[in-house]
Amino acid sequence: MENINWKDLSFGYIKTDYNVRTYYKDGKWSEPEVTDSEYLNIHIAATALHYGQEAFEGMKAYRGKDNKIRLFRWKENARRLINSARGVIMAEVPEELFRDEIFKAVKLNEKYVPPYGSGASLYIRPLLFGSGAEVGVSPAKEYTFMVFVTPVGPYFKGGVKPVSMMICRDVDRAAPKGTGIFKVGGNYAASLRAIVKARDENYANVIFLDAKEKKYIDECGPANFFAIKGNTYITPKSETILRSITNKSLVEIAENMGMKVERRPVHLDELPGFDEVGACGTAAVISPIGKIFDPGTNQVFEYCKDGNPGKVQMKLYNKLTAIQVGDEPDIFNWITVLD
Ligand code: PLP
Ligand code: COI
Repeated sequence: MENINWKDLSFGYIKTDYNVRTYYKDGKWSEPEVTDSEYLNIHIAATALHYGQEAFEGMKAYRGKDNKIRLFRWKENARRLINSARGVIMAEVPEELFRDEIFKAVKLNEKYVPPYGSGASLYIRPLLFGSGAEVGVSPAKEYTFMVFVTPVGPYFKGGVKPVSMMICRDVDRAAPKGTGIFKVGGNYAASLRAIVKARDENYANVIFLDAKEKKYIDECGPANFFAIKGNTYITPKSETILRSITNKSLVEIAENMGMKVERRPVHLDELPGFDEVGACGTAAVISPIGKIFDPGTNQVFEYCKDGNPGKVQMKLYNKLTAIQVGDEPDIFNWITVLD
Protein backbone atom coordinates (compact mmCIF):
# COMPACT_ATOMS: atom_id res chain seq x y z
CA MET A 1 0.00 0.00 0.00
CA GLU A 2 1.57 3.25 -1.11
CA ASN A 3 1.24 6.24 1.19
CA ILE A 4 -2.24 7.66 0.89
CA ASN A 5 -2.78 11.29 1.73
CA TRP A 6 -6.18 10.78 3.38
CA LYS A 7 -6.96 14.47 3.71
CA ASP A 8 -6.50 15.15 -0.01
CA LEU A 9 -8.43 12.18 -1.32
CA SER A 10 -10.94 12.91 -4.03
CA PHE A 11 -13.83 10.66 -5.03
CA GLY A 12 -11.94 8.29 -7.28
CA TYR A 13 -10.68 4.74 -7.63
CA ILE A 14 -7.67 3.60 -5.64
CA LYS A 15 -6.63 -0.03 -5.81
CA THR A 16 -7.15 -1.98 -2.60
CA ASP A 17 -6.00 -5.52 -1.88
CA TYR A 18 -9.05 -7.70 -2.46
CA ASN A 19 -12.53 -7.85 -3.87
CA VAL A 20 -15.20 -10.48 -3.34
CA ARG A 21 -17.33 -12.28 -5.93
CA THR A 22 -20.16 -14.79 -6.16
CA TYR A 23 -21.81 -16.39 -9.13
CA TYR A 24 -25.41 -17.35 -9.75
CA LYS A 25 -25.99 -20.45 -11.82
CA ASP A 26 -28.74 -23.07 -11.97
CA GLY A 27 -30.79 -21.14 -9.45
CA LYS A 28 -28.06 -20.95 -6.76
CA TRP A 29 -25.44 -18.50 -5.58
CA SER A 30 -21.90 -19.82 -5.07
CA GLU A 31 -19.87 -19.23 -1.92
CA PRO A 32 -18.11 -15.81 -1.90
CA GLU A 33 -14.70 -15.95 -3.53
CA VAL A 34 -11.86 -13.58 -2.66
CA THR A 35 -9.51 -12.32 -5.34
CA ASP A 36 -6.75 -9.77 -5.67
CA SER A 37 -7.47 -9.25 -9.35
CA GLU A 38 -8.99 -5.97 -10.49
CA TYR A 39 -10.33 -7.64 -13.61
CA LEU A 40 -13.29 -9.81 -14.51
CA ASN A 41 -13.31 -12.47 -17.14
CA ILE A 42 -16.61 -11.90 -18.89
CA HIS A 43 -18.49 -13.67 -21.67
CA ILE A 44 -18.60 -11.67 -24.88
CA ALA A 45 -22.39 -12.06 -25.04
CA ALA A 46 -23.08 -11.21 -21.37
CA THR A 47 -26.36 -9.31 -21.06
CA ALA A 48 -24.73 -6.64 -18.89
CA LEU A 49 -22.47 -5.63 -21.76
CA HIS A 50 -25.09 -5.56 -24.48
CA TYR A 51 -28.37 -4.76 -22.82
CA GLY A 52 -27.28 -2.99 -19.64
CA GLN A 53 -28.62 -5.71 -17.35
CA GLU A 54 -26.86 -4.52 -14.21
CA ALA A 55 -27.37 -2.62 -10.98
CA PHE A 56 -25.05 -1.31 -8.30
CA GLU A 57 -25.01 0.15 -4.84
CA GLY A 58 -22.95 2.74 -3.02
CA MET A 59 -22.30 2.85 0.69
CA LYS A 60 -19.54 3.84 3.08
CA ALA A 61 -17.56 2.50 6.02
CA TYR A 62 -16.25 5.01 8.57
CA ARG A 63 -13.59 4.83 11.24
CA GLY A 64 -14.54 6.20 14.63
CA LYS A 65 -12.51 7.85 17.36
CA ASP A 66 -12.37 4.39 18.97
CA ASN A 67 -10.75 3.13 15.76
CA LYS A 68 -13.73 0.84 15.12
CA ILE A 69 -15.20 0.52 11.66
CA ARG A 70 -18.84 1.43 11.22
CA LEU A 71 -21.24 0.69 8.39
CA PHE A 72 -24.24 2.92 7.78
CA ARG A 73 -27.67 1.37 7.09
CA TRP A 74 -26.32 -1.49 4.93
CA LYS A 75 -29.67 -3.30 5.03
CA GLU A 76 -31.25 -0.42 3.14
CA ASN A 77 -28.69 -0.86 0.38
CA ALA A 78 -29.28 -4.62 0.34
CA ARG A 79 -33.01 -4.04 -0.05
CA ARG A 80 -32.55 -1.43 -2.74
CA LEU A 81 -30.34 -3.81 -4.72
CA ILE A 82 -33.10 -6.42 -4.54
CA ASN A 83 -35.50 -3.81 -5.85
CA SER A 84 -33.11 -2.87 -8.66
CA ALA A 85 -32.66 -6.56 -9.52
CA ARG A 86 -36.44 -6.84 -9.88
CA GLY A 87 -36.40 -3.69 -12.00
CA VAL A 88 -34.23 -5.27 -14.70
CA ILE A 89 -35.20 -8.92 -14.06
CA MET A 90 -31.98 -10.19 -12.48
CA ALA A 91 -31.37 -12.86 -9.86
CA GLU A 92 -31.78 -11.26 -6.43
CA VAL A 93 -28.91 -11.14 -3.95
CA PRO A 94 -30.23 -12.34 -0.58
CA GLU A 95 -29.64 -9.94 2.31
CA GLU A 96 -27.29 -12.39 4.11
CA LEU A 97 -25.13 -12.86 1.03
CA PHE A 98 -24.98 -9.10 0.53
CA ARG A 99 -23.94 -8.69 4.18
CA ASP A 100 -21.30 -11.45 4.02
CA GLU A 101 -19.77 -10.03 0.92
CA ILE A 102 -19.61 -6.38 2.02
CA PHE A 103 -18.33 -7.27 5.48
CA LYS A 104 -15.67 -9.49 3.95
CA ALA A 105 -14.61 -6.84 1.43
CA VAL A 106 -14.28 -4.21 4.17
CA LYS A 107 -12.45 -6.44 6.63
CA LEU A 108 -9.97 -7.71 4.06
CA ASN A 109 -9.17 -4.12 3.16
CA GLU A 110 -9.31 -2.75 6.69
CA LYS A 111 -6.10 -0.80 6.31
CA TYR A 112 -7.77 1.30 3.61
CA VAL A 113 -10.50 2.58 5.92
CA PRO A 114 -9.37 6.20 6.34
CA PRO A 115 -8.49 7.41 9.84
CA TYR A 116 -11.01 9.20 12.04
CA GLY A 117 -11.02 12.92 11.43
CA SER A 118 -9.59 12.75 7.91
CA GLY A 119 -12.97 13.49 6.32
CA ALA A 120 -12.44 10.46 4.08
CA SER A 121 -14.19 7.09 4.19
CA LEU A 122 -14.14 3.70 2.53
CA TYR A 123 -16.60 3.61 -0.35
CA ILE A 124 -18.21 0.21 -0.89
CA ARG A 125 -19.41 -0.63 -4.36
CA PRO A 126 -21.57 -3.74 -4.70
CA LEU A 127 -22.28 -4.64 -8.34
CA LEU A 128 -24.74 -7.16 -9.77
CA PHE A 129 -24.86 -7.99 -13.45
CA GLY A 130 -26.07 -10.47 -16.02
CA SER A 131 -23.01 -12.52 -16.90
CA GLY A 132 -24.80 -15.23 -18.87
CA ALA A 133 -24.79 -15.12 -22.67
CA GLU A 134 -27.88 -14.07 -24.62
CA VAL A 135 -28.12 -12.52 -28.04
CA GLY A 136 -31.84 -11.91 -28.12
CA VAL A 137 -33.11 -9.35 -25.65
CA SER A 138 -33.93 -11.44 -22.60
CA PRO A 139 -32.68 -11.75 -19.03
CA ALA A 140 -29.49 -13.75 -18.50
CA LYS A 141 -29.60 -17.12 -16.80
CA GLU A 142 -26.34 -16.43 -14.95
CA TYR A 143 -25.34 -13.49 -12.74
CA THR A 144 -22.27 -12.18 -10.99
CA PHE A 145 -22.38 -10.24 -7.76
CA MET A 146 -19.19 -8.57 -6.64
CA VAL A 147 -18.03 -6.01 -4.11
CA PHE A 148 -15.02 -3.78 -4.29
CA VAL A 149 -14.02 -1.00 -1.94
CA THR A 150 -11.94 2.12 -2.41
CA PRO A 151 -11.03 4.97 -0.06
CA VAL A 152 -12.68 8.24 -1.05
CA GLY A 153 -12.82 11.89 -0.16
CA PRO A 154 -15.64 14.32 -0.96
CA TYR A 155 -17.57 13.88 -4.24
CA PHE A 156 -17.80 17.60 -4.82
CA LYS A 157 -14.52 19.49 -4.56
CA GLY A 158 -13.91 21.29 -1.31
CA GLY A 159 -16.23 19.12 0.78
CA VAL A 160 -19.03 21.08 2.40
CA LYS A 161 -18.59 24.12 0.18
CA PRO A 162 -21.47 25.58 -1.80
CA VAL A 163 -21.49 24.38 -5.42
CA SER A 164 -23.15 25.69 -8.56
CA MET A 165 -25.67 23.59 -10.44
CA MET A 166 -27.19 23.95 -13.87
CA ILE A 167 -30.77 23.00 -14.56
CA CYS A 168 -30.93 20.51 -17.38
CA ARG A 169 -33.64 21.00 -19.97
CA ASP A 170 -32.34 19.06 -22.96
CA VAL A 171 -31.59 15.63 -21.47
CA ASP A 172 -33.72 13.28 -19.36
CA ARG A 173 -32.00 10.67 -17.22
CA ALA A 174 -35.13 8.61 -16.75
CA ALA A 175 -38.67 8.44 -18.09
CA PRO A 176 -41.88 8.17 -16.09
CA LYS A 177 -42.50 4.43 -15.60
CA GLY A 178 -38.87 3.88 -16.68
CA THR A 179 -35.91 2.81 -14.56
CA GLY A 180 -35.21 6.03 -12.63
CA ILE A 181 -36.07 4.50 -9.27
CA PHE A 182 -33.66 1.62 -9.81
CA LYS A 183 -29.92 2.03 -9.37
CA VAL A 184 -29.08 0.69 -12.81
CA GLY A 185 -26.14 1.74 -14.97
CA GLY A 186 -28.35 2.84 -17.87
CA ASN A 187 -29.61 5.82 -15.87
CA TYR A 188 -26.04 7.00 -15.38
CA ALA A 189 -25.16 6.48 -19.05
CA ALA A 190 -28.23 8.56 -19.89
CA SER A 191 -27.08 11.33 -17.57
CA LEU A 192 -23.57 11.70 -18.99
CA ARG A 193 -24.33 14.12 -21.83
CA ALA A 194 -25.91 16.51 -19.34
CA ILE A 195 -23.19 16.14 -16.71
CA VAL A 196 -20.33 16.63 -19.16
CA LYS A 197 -21.99 19.74 -20.62
CA ALA A 198 -22.57 21.19 -17.14
CA ARG A 199 -18.96 20.52 -16.10
CA ASP A 200 -17.68 22.09 -19.31
CA GLU A 201 -19.54 25.20 -18.27
CA ASN A 202 -18.03 25.06 -14.78
CA TYR A 203 -21.03 23.73 -12.93
CA ALA A 204 -20.52 20.97 -10.38
CA ASN A 205 -23.47 19.02 -11.75
CA VAL A 206 -26.97 19.22 -13.15
CA ILE A 207 -30.45 19.37 -11.73
CA PHE A 208 -32.72 17.09 -13.71
CA LEU A 209 -36.35 18.06 -14.13
CA ASP A 210 -39.36 15.79 -14.43
CA ALA A 211 -39.22 14.37 -17.94
CA LYS A 212 -42.88 14.92 -18.78
CA GLU A 213 -43.56 18.55 -17.95
CA LYS A 214 -40.15 20.04 -17.16
CA LYS A 215 -41.74 21.91 -14.28
CA TYR A 216 -40.65 19.96 -11.23
CA ILE A 217 -37.25 19.25 -9.75
CA ASP A 218 -36.19 15.61 -9.89
CA GLU A 219 -32.64 15.20 -8.59
CA CYS A 220 -29.08 16.52 -8.76
CA GLY A 221 -26.93 14.20 -10.89
CA PRO A 222 -25.95 11.41 -8.48
CA ALA A 223 -27.73 12.88 -5.46
CA ASN A 224 -31.23 13.84 -4.29
CA PHE A 225 -32.35 17.46 -3.98
CA PHE A 226 -33.64 19.08 -0.82
CA ALA A 227 -34.57 22.59 0.24
CA ILE A 228 -35.04 24.35 3.54
CA LYS A 229 -37.78 26.92 3.99
CA GLY A 230 -38.16 28.24 7.51
CA ASN A 231 -38.49 25.19 9.70
CA THR A 232 -39.43 22.86 6.84
CA TYR A 233 -37.32 20.28 4.99
CA ILE A 234 -38.68 19.87 1.46
CA THR A 235 -37.65 17.14 -0.96
CA PRO A 236 -39.11 15.99 -4.28
CA LYS A 237 -41.53 13.13 -4.54
CA SER A 238 -41.10 11.71 -7.99
CA GLU A 239 -41.41 8.35 -9.70
CA THR A 240 -38.14 8.91 -11.59
CA ILE A 241 -35.63 9.52 -8.81
CA LEU A 242 -33.53 7.16 -6.77
CA ARG A 243 -34.79 6.74 -3.22
CA SER A 244 -31.75 8.07 -1.44
CA ILE A 245 -30.90 6.47 1.88
CA THR A 246 -29.10 9.66 2.91
CA ASN A 247 -32.21 11.71 2.15
CA LYS A 248 -34.40 9.30 4.08
CA SER A 249 -32.00 9.63 7.01
CA LEU A 250 -31.99 13.45 6.81
CA VAL A 251 -35.79 13.36 6.88
CA GLU A 252 -35.66 11.40 10.14
CA ILE A 253 -33.01 13.68 11.62
CA ALA A 254 -34.98 16.79 10.60
CA GLU A 255 -38.16 15.42 12.19
CA ASN A 256 -36.21 14.53 15.31
CA MET A 257 -34.92 18.12 15.44
CA GLY A 258 -38.52 19.36 15.39
CA MET A 259 -38.62 20.32 11.72
CA LYS A 260 -41.56 19.76 9.45
CA VAL A 261 -40.93 17.52 6.44
CA GLU A 262 -42.61 17.73 3.06
CA ARG A 263 -42.01 15.08 0.42
CA ARG A 264 -43.93 16.36 -2.58
CA PRO A 265 -43.49 17.61 -6.14
CA VAL A 266 -41.20 20.65 -5.99
CA HIS A 267 -42.06 23.25 -8.64
CA LEU A 268 -39.30 25.32 -10.23
CA ASP A 269 -41.22 28.47 -9.32
CA GLU A 270 -40.49 27.72 -5.68
CA LEU A 271 -36.73 28.16 -6.09
CA PRO A 272 -36.64 31.90 -5.23
CA GLY A 273 -38.52 31.22 -1.99
CA PHE A 274 -36.14 28.67 -0.50
CA ASP A 275 -33.73 29.69 2.29
CA GLU A 276 -31.25 26.91 1.54
CA VAL A 277 -30.91 24.21 -1.09
CA GLY A 278 -28.61 21.21 -1.29
CA ALA A 279 -27.80 17.82 -2.79
CA CYS A 280 -27.56 14.70 -0.66
CA GLY A 281 -26.33 11.16 -1.16
CA THR A 282 -23.73 8.67 0.01
CA ALA A 283 -21.03 10.16 -2.19
CA ALA A 284 -22.22 13.77 -1.87
CA VAL A 285 -23.13 13.53 1.85
CA ILE A 286 -24.65 17.03 1.92
CA SER A 287 -23.45 19.40 -0.75
CA PRO A 288 -24.86 22.85 -0.24
CA ILE A 289 -25.94 24.53 -3.49
CA GLY A 290 -24.87 28.16 -3.75
CA LYS A 291 -26.16 28.91 -7.21
CA ILE A 292 -28.62 27.44 -9.70
CA PHE A 293 -28.64 28.55 -13.32
CA ASP A 294 -31.63 27.84 -15.53
CA PRO A 295 -30.56 28.04 -19.18
CA GLY A 296 -34.22 27.79 -20.25
CA THR A 297 -35.15 31.13 -18.70
CA ASN A 298 -31.67 32.58 -18.08
CA GLN A 299 -32.56 32.94 -14.40
CA VAL A 300 -29.97 32.62 -11.67
CA PHE A 301 -30.95 31.66 -8.13
CA GLU A 302 -28.45 32.37 -5.40
CA TYR A 303 -28.16 30.96 -1.91
CA CYS A 304 -25.38 31.08 0.70
CA LYS A 305 -24.63 34.64 -0.38
CA ASP A 306 -21.97 34.98 2.31
CA GLY A 307 -20.13 32.02 0.76
CA ASN A 308 -20.97 29.71 3.67
CA PRO A 309 -23.33 26.74 3.68
CA GLY A 310 -26.77 27.39 5.16
CA LYS A 311 -27.08 26.96 8.91
CA VAL A 312 -29.89 24.41 8.86
CA GLN A 313 -28.18 22.08 6.42
CA MET A 314 -24.95 22.36 8.40
CA LYS A 315 -26.87 21.24 11.48
CA LEU A 316 -28.23 18.28 9.53
CA TYR A 317 -24.80 17.53 8.11
CA ASN A 318 -23.13 17.64 11.51
CA LYS A 319 -25.73 15.35 13.04
CA LEU A 320 -25.62 12.82 10.20
CA THR A 321 -21.82 12.62 10.04
CA ALA A 322 -21.51 12.48 13.84
CA ILE A 323 -23.80 9.43 13.89
CA GLN A 324 -21.91 7.84 10.98
CA VAL A 325 -18.51 8.00 12.69
CA GLY A 326 -19.92 7.19 16.13
CA ASP A 327 -19.37 10.61 17.75
CA GLU A 328 -23.06 10.70 18.65
CA PRO A 329 -25.25 7.91 19.95
CA ASP A 330 -26.88 5.79 17.29
CA ILE A 331 -30.40 6.76 18.33
CA PHE A 332 -31.95 5.60 15.06
CA ASN A 333 -30.22 2.22 15.06
CA TRP A 334 -28.44 2.85 11.75
CA ILE A 335 -24.94 1.68 12.57
CA THR A 336 -23.29 -1.72 12.42
CA VAL A 337 -19.91 -1.89 14.13
CA LEU A 338 -17.62 -4.47 12.49
CA ASP A 339 -15.80 -6.73 14.88
N1 PLP B 1 -29.67 9.78 -6.66
C1 PLP B 1 -28.84 9.12 -7.48
C2 PLP B 1 -29.13 9.15 -8.94
C3 PLP B 1 -27.75 8.43 -6.96
O1 PLP B 1 -26.90 7.78 -7.76
C4 PLP B 1 -27.53 8.42 -5.57
C5 PLP B 1 -26.42 7.68 -5.00
O2 PLP B 1 -26.55 6.58 -4.57
C6 PLP B 1 -28.41 9.13 -4.77
C7 PLP B 1 -29.47 9.80 -5.33
C8 PLP B 1 -28.24 9.14 -3.27
O3 PLP B 1 -28.65 7.93 -2.71
P1 PLP B 1 -28.00 7.40 -1.37
O4 PLP B 1 -28.22 8.46 -0.35
O5 PLP B 1 -28.76 6.17 -1.07
O6 PLP B 1 -26.58 7.16 -1.65
C1 COI C 1 -23.46 7.19 -4.26
O1 COI C 1 -23.71 8.25 -3.73
O2 COI C 1 -23.16 6.17 -3.65
C2 COI C 1 -23.51 7.03 -5.68
O3 COI C 1 -23.78 5.94 -6.10
C3 COI C 1 -23.14 8.12 -6.52
C4 COI C 1 -22.28 7.57 -7.59
C5 COI C 1 -23.00 7.23 -8.80
C6 COI C 1 -20.97 8.19 -7.73
